[in-house]
Amino acid sequence: VYRPRAEDRFSFGLWTVGWQGVNTFGSAVRGPLDPVRAVHRLAELGAWGVTFHDEDLVPAGTGAAERERIIGRFRAALEETGVVVPMATTNLFTDPVFRDGGFTSNSRRVRRLALRKAAANIDLAAELGARTYVCWGGQDGAESEAGKDGRAALERLKEAFDLLCGYIRERGYDLRLAVEPKPNEPRGDVLLPTVGHALAFIGELEHPEMVGVNPEVGHEEMAGLNMVHGVAQALWHGKLFHIDLNGQRGVKFDQDLRFGGGDLREAFFLVDLLEREGYSGPRHFDFKPPRTEDDEGVWVSAQACMRNYLILREKAAAFRADPEVAEALEASRVGELAEPTLGEGEPLKALLAEVDPDVEELRERGYGFERLDQLATEHLLGVR
Ligand code: GCO
Ligand code: MN
Ligand code: MN
Ligand code: MN
Repeated sequence: VYRPRAEDRFSFGLWTVGWQGVNTFGSAVRGPLDPVRAVHRLAELGAWGVTFHDEDLVPAGTGAAERERIIGRFRAALEETGVVVPMATTNLFTDPVFRDGGFTSNSRRVRRLALRKAAANIDLAAELGARTYVCWGGQDGAESEAGKDGRAALERLKEAFDLLCGYIRERGYDLRLAVEPKPNEPRGDVLLPTVGHALAFIGELEHPEMVGVNPEVGHEEMAGLNMVHGVAQALWHGKLFHIDLNGQRGVKFDQDLRFGGGDLREAFFLVDLLEREGYSGPRHFDFKPPRTEDDEGVWVSAQACMRNYLILREKAAAFRADPEVAEALEASRVGELAEPTLGEGEPLKALLAEVDPDVEELRERGYGFERLDQLATEHLLGVR
């Protein structure tokens, strides 16, 4: 049971299971992970897809011949296992050249370099069959307002997205971009800090239809926001192109815990939402196996991401199928919110002229959300 299947569309970044555990205070605790081994191990665990930043696959500074050899080996592993590449992204943060960001660096030369790097990896992404290209700013942000013109930064970010969309169209790639918001880390403040900021930004682009969002559980929570509501809004705009599932507990540094670690209730309601909405995109795990784990622990945590999703999916389905829940939903008038406030064909003046016969009743009657939430909690705790 809880064995992942291809149709679950579980995917992992090479940088997740391959994270060597370097953090601000500690050095690497694990050795490098061969991408080919990652593909085989993930396939054994039942994952469907693997994703990468350019440098996760082809280390910076690799020559052309060696690059071809690396890509060839990777391709062979994909063919052998049936693992697909649904998404790829650009590393615009590790190299010191990006210390002030990529697309929004104050240095025009750096911005030109960042665009060349992104375009090169877009070619590889398309070649490997990716349908989504994630753009996470990384170092695009600031520590102080003094050194960064926020308006100009947005203007340059728009320029970069417009150019990349133009490039994708010109090349005829079947690829869409997904903006990944994050409020801070590594910069003191990061550009496009939340799902809402990203959605507003997308509306200003030349090809808004080509750009959506890639919300990450932990990033919304780092901003003290509700991930489930953020995802619901992205879905409402038709913009949930991709999703980064992981765990976070509260407003602090980016924990990147395995999915199900951190805020479990949020994970439950998130799975419930994705499943009810019939989200059909990749379920991508962007987590970092903690530094306490050795190689074995890495795979235990990767497997746990998928198991937790499947367990929560089962719990959410049981919650929805429970007759007492149906009754509680009814009592809470949850379905009533889907009904338009104005009747079909009803003129506004009819609403304005109406007098509610019993406002006192409206004042007195509660909504019963506590009962409903307790039922969810008991399903989650496994006692129903
Ligand atoms: C983070 C981010 C990154 C990005 C990834 C894609 O934890 O700060 O999630 O992991 O998702 O780099 O560009
Ligand atoms: Mn993160
Ligand atoms: Mn992270
Ligand atoms: Mn992410």
